Amino acid sequence: MAKLMEIMGKFPFEPDKKKPMLIRKQDYSMALYPPNNAFTSDNTYTIVTTDTFMLGIYELGPGGAFDPLDIHPGDETYYILQGPIVQRSGNGQFAYLETGDGLYMPEEAWHKAHNFSDKTARVLYFITPKAWGENIPPAVIPTDSETKFYKGPNNDNLPDMRGIIKDFARQGCTDDIGAWPVSGPEARKAPQAVYAVRDGDKLNNVHGTAHPMLMRFISSNDYGHMGEFILPAGGYGPRCSDPDIHKGDAALYCVDGPVTVNLVDMEESFQIEPEDTFFIPAGIKYQLVNFQNHPVKLVFAITDL
Ligand SMILES: [Fe+2]
Repeated sequence: MAKLMEIMGKFPFEPDKKKPMLIRKQDYSMALYPPNNAFTSDNTYTIVTTDTFMLGIYELGPGGAFDPLDIHPGDETYYILQGPIVQRSGNGQFAYLETGDGLYMPEEAWHKAHNFSDKTARVLYFITPKAWGENIPPAVIPTDSETKFYKGPNNDNLPDMRGIIKDFARQGCTDDIGAWPVSGPEARKAPQAVYAVRDGDKLNNVHGTAHPMLMRFISSNDYGHMGEFILPAGGYGPRCSDPDIHKGDAALYCVDGPVTVNLVDMEESFQIEPEDTFFIPAGIKYQLVNFQNHPVKLVFAITDL
């Protein structure tokens, strides 16, 4: 497997060579991150890293935590494949996230995960538009003891978060698409606040009228959108979604499957097995087809709807 630094922005293809592609789990690029100390690393599987987003999975063993804290010049959204994990932010939030929950972190939010459970935690992450930049990761990174936590020695030097974390208790609606759980530009003004989006807090909607499919957003803003597509089983014929085309690049990660991706205009289809991913460049028309006798679930990561 390649070094993460070497594939950043160009895996599994160079940005000018994007095409619809089934990326099977055995083809994800593995590395420890950070690479220099296995004891404080997570086990990282890079799925896609291109000019518009990065999608990957990291694993943390029982009792583990990754170190140091992480930061990106782009928003990061989590979908918890296997929880629970506890996500620590630099300024004192500790989000307890169960399997199926999400987390939205605006760009430049410091973060790190702890696994206090007896299972290997697995997190699907989506970072857009960029995971790393000129100055990120920075040369100086706060240590755990510099963050805010129970009896932390630096607590008095950090802001009181109670007036900064936005309340999103209101029931969501279609008009919230593009600003869920909070507006992206607003959230980025106070990147020390992050937002757990639990399963019941996802923004629900329906995709299509002829062939309705459930769509559940964890995050939705001007940088990108992450959530779930849930397609029930069919009756007389397979259940399919209405075709869609996105203005930005997209990736679909299979949670429950297999799911068929039908590229309508190209007259080509692919079967995505659980844990596989399908990459769809901007402007390619596709629909999902369920030939199974049970609902199927994909996590979508789309830069522009
Ligand atoms: Fe991160």
